[in-house]
Amino acid sequence: MKLVIILSAIIIVLVKYNETKQASKTKCETILVNGKNHKRVVMSNGINRPYQLSVSKRNHTIYFSYNTGFDNTSTFEIGYIKKEHRVAIPISGVKNGFATAIDEKNNIVYFGGSDGIYMDDISKSGNITHLINNHNIWDLFYKDDLYFITYPSRKLYKYLGENKSEIQKSIYEKIYQFAIDGDEDTFITNKTGLYIIKNGTNDRILYEGAKVFRTIEINNKGVAHFCGQNEIFVANKHKHTLHKIADVKDIFGLGFDHEDNIIYSNPHEIVKLLPENCK
Ligand SMILES: *[C@@H]1O[C@H](CO)[C@@H](O)[C@H](O)[C@H]1NC(C)=O
Ligand SMILES: *[C@@H]1O[C@H](CO)[C@@H](O)[C@H](O)[C@H]1NC(C)=O
Ligand SMILES: *[C@@H]1O[C@H](CO)[C@@H](O)[C@H](O)[C@H]1NC(C)=O
Ligand SMILES: *[C@@H]1O[C@H](CO)[C@@H](O)[C@H](O)[C@H]1NC(C)=O
Ligand SMILES: *[C@@H]1O[C@H](CO)[C@@H](O)[C@H](O)[C@H]1NC(C)=O
Ligand SMILES: *[C@@H]1O[C@H](CO)[C@@H](O)[C@H](O)[C@H]1NC(C)=O
Repeated sequence: MKLVIILSAIIIVLVKYNETKQASKTKCETILVNGKNHKRVVMSNGINRPYQLSVSKRNHTIYFSYNTGFDNTSTFEIGYIKKEHRVAIPISGVKNGFATAIDEKNNIVYFGGSDGIYMDDISKSGNITHLINNHNIWDLFYKDDLYFITYPSRKLYKYLGENKSEIQKSIYEKIYQFAIDGDEDTFITNKTGLYIIKNGTNDRILYEGAKVFRTIEINNKGVAHFCGQNEIFVANKHKHTLHKIADVKDIFGLGFDHEDNIIYSNPHEIVKLLPENCK
């Protein structure tokens, strides 16, 4: 009898010890971004493969595409989460909605799907206009103008307004991603890898390192960020190499809030990384 009591006491002590150990461990479980501790703040979860994030800095809304099919199929829809809300709200009317982009200055969000491009005024919201209907959209990018990549041709176009668009002949490659950074340098990716086309030139300079990217996103300071499968990079423009700033497992999408905090998605969550003093 005594032995049983002593044994249970030992077990209780051990369990308690483990609990405190775990509590302190979770408290300081951080991700390093540029060598600094950051905590993960889950903004939404239970979303099936959220991809192509766009953050409205004015409204603090996050737009994304997600999968609505079985795991073996790919049917996409656009959804968004509002500031301080965790529940994803679907946006209806965009068939196979796959791509998103934001014109921050005018607070306009663009959606791309198999039936073309749609826009919505975020400040008012709820009045989606169909702009382009004869292209299947693979990706969208906004800087001064709206650019889109079509599927399956994977060609780059620019939206000219009034439902008109124009193919961009200067980008003759079949590309996966396209972005223009704050130096007005262009980045493209194709099967071979990542290339920079410096402002005012036509030369393609291949970057060393990662070859497959999930997305390229520009932060508020104009710095391009590149997502591999498990890491985030920025470009070293002198050496033409990629510099890893964070390890994030199975990253799908990337964005930045108004303070340039990283927002990313993985197969079922949207997460914000906030600086954390952790000792
Ligand atoms: C995908 O999975 C579902 C459910 O498991 C199954 O019913 C369907 O036949 C599958 N489709 C394909 C294209 O494999
Ligand atoms: C954005 O903010 C404005 C002003 O508060 C509001 O009227 C509008 O509904 C918001 N849009 C979305 C998509 O939440
Ligand atoms: C919806 O958008 C269209 C095109 O931008 C505009 O002409 C129309 O007035 C808008 N309707 C409402 C109710 O805001
Ligand atoms: C063209 O633009 C107008 C006004 O923005 C819109 O109402 C219309 O649906 C668009 N048409 C197509 C085919 O996208
Ligand atoms: C890019 O090139 C154009 C024309 O060559 C020049 O006017 C512009 O200032 C350049 N942009 C930057 C950010 O250097
Ligand atoms: C990717 O683009 C580069 C630069 O134009 C080109 O040299 C390369 O052949 C392209 N790769 C493929 C697989 O098309």
